[in-house]
Amino acid sequence: MNYQNAQLSYMQNVHISDTNLCEDAWKISLYAPLQKQLSKSLASQPCKNSFVYIGCGPLAPIIEKGTPCFSEIEKYNRIILLDISETYLLQAKKRLSKLFPDKDISFHTYDITNGLSEVFYNLITSLFNGNSSTFLDRVEYLNSNFEEIINRLSPDINFPPIVGASYIYSELVATYTGIPALFDCESELSKNTENVELLLAHIFPLWQIYNERIFSYHLSDLGRMLAAKGKISVATDVEKIYCQNNCDDIASFRKVDYPITSSIEGVSIKSFDQEIMWDDSGQHKYNQSVHLNTLAHVHRVGFYSYEKA
Ligand SMILES: C[S@@+](CC[C@H](N)C(=O)[O-])C[C@H]1O[C@@H](n2cnc3c(N)ncnc32)[C@H](O)[C@@H]1O
Repeated sequence: MNYQNAQLSYMQNVHISDTNLCEDAWKISLYAPLQKQLSKSLASQPCKNSFVYIGCGPLAPIIEKGTPCFSEIEKYNRIILLDISETYLLQAKKRLSKLFPDKDISFHTYDITNGLSEVFYNLITSLFNGNSSTFLDRVEYLNSNFEEIINRLSPDINFPPIVGASYIYSELVATYTGIPALFDCESELSKNTENVELLLAHIFPLWQIYNERIFSYHLSDLGRMLAAKGKISVATDVEKIYCQNNCDDIASFRKVDYPITSSIEGVSIKSFDQEIMWDDSGQHKYNQSVHLNTLAHVHRVGFYSYEKA
């Protein structure tokens, strides 16, 4: 399995299946609050040339007819979609072309991590090569060198598929790109041991370091795609809070305020909201073997808006 296949399998088996099963709960707890934040931010951007939607998936759920957010997006001349999956881009474009028959809608397949998600996936899944009794030794070794490894393997500057965008909205991609590795890791661990939670607790710090690196890289990459005075909004989950008392919460970053404090040259934070509580507590997930990924939880989601000088 490589990253691209692993994330497609996660999307198919978890995200898309849950989107269908939890349609109302997700709409109320996630997409409606995101639409509210986005429409406020879009209204404050005078230039309406191009709206870029990153990580739209097959459904492009932020665009919903009849909402103020829809009316704001409608004012843009062009809509450009970016995602790693061409299949999802084609599906999203088809949906949006019906909603905006006269608008210029285009897309680009694009890996926002420029290969680092593949590196992370390979590093985490390679922990299973070798004797299971020495698994923790391998995790500890990786842990003590991880920041250096990730920084050394940082992606080169990518050639951006877009330049001069007026508004870029990135939806739930940055921290998501590490999830397929965690999911496959938990699934593999649960085949051989009962101490899955204990072992996974040693892997979460690696995910947090990876997330910080990807968030910074993503922001600087988006900065290169943006016109002067253009705006970026990034929606990302910052904390996973379990409904059961005996499961510790998991933060996406070592510092929960990382998206506010991470500074990129020429791009500065303008506003944020970190109180969206995405309800992912559907009962149907309780019996799955990959518990930490699927046990009833809520995600605290942050919406961060940045402006280019
Ligand atoms: C969790 S889904 C969210 C989809 C959509 N925003 C939604 O809420 O339904 C993550 C999306 O990011 C895309 N994606 C995953 N890894 C990516 C990467 N490295 N670069 C760009 N897009 C990626 C997936 O194909 C998927 O469409």
